[in-house]
Amino acid sequence: MPTDMVNELILRRRSSRAIAADRPVPAEAIESMLEAARWAPSSGNAQPWRFIVVNDAPSLQDARNALKPGNQAWANAAPVLFVACANPADDYEVGGQPLYLFDTGLAVQNLLLQGIHLGLVVHPMAGWDEEGIRNATGLPEPYRVICVIAVGYPGAPGALPEDLQKREAAERSRKTLTEISHFNRWSR
Ligand SMILES: Cc1cc2nc3c(=O)[nH]c(=O)nc-3n(C[C@H](O)[C@H](O)[C@H](O)COP(=O)(O)O)c2cc1C
Repeated sequence: MPTDMVNELILRRRSSRAIAADRPVPAEAIESMLEAARWAPSSGNAQPWRFIVVNDAPSLQDARNALKPGNQAWANAAPVLFVACANPADDYEVGGQPLYLFDTGLAVQNLLLQGIHLGLVVHPMAGWDEEGIRNATGLPEPYRVICVIAVGYPGAPGALPEDLQKREAAERSRKTLTEISHFNRWSR
């Protein structure tokens, strides 16, 4: 099986929702995730990514209020929210193709894998209100919010609503290799 050759960390990563509300994430763990992000590749080495670590009670409350209802309940347990942001002007575009979002995504994946390596739950989210995140964090224009990542130690799945408990236990699904790959020429 080709899966056998894939790095175990990549296979183990999943976007869990059961987070222990009462177990803080140590500063060294947070720093190591930022460090992992720092070493991502980027177009022209532009390194457009910036991260705001939200982990004090009042800032967390404001940031949680900026999450969309679908994410609110489970993500409220996370003792840390990372806000990944970037200034579109920091783009090193090639051939008219903007690349700052791509670069920031690579940095976020490094951050996620480092979190998984440390035994954390790391769950990226697009469900937030940009103005709300801006107000909670003081993020200035022209920076854009790219992704918010809920981080914490694993919690009890039984504390989640029933539908999310099912999703938590479900096998992850992916398109097949045939669906996503072509060799030498686009073949369908
Ligand atoms: C950019 C991005 C945005 C996402 N937004 C949300 C979200 O708002 N809420 C949520 O519960 N999950 C969100 N997810 C998690 C995806 O649902 C999840 O990655 C996908 O279903 C695959 O599952 P897995 O990460 O467990 O492999 C997001 C993931 C990414 C990469």
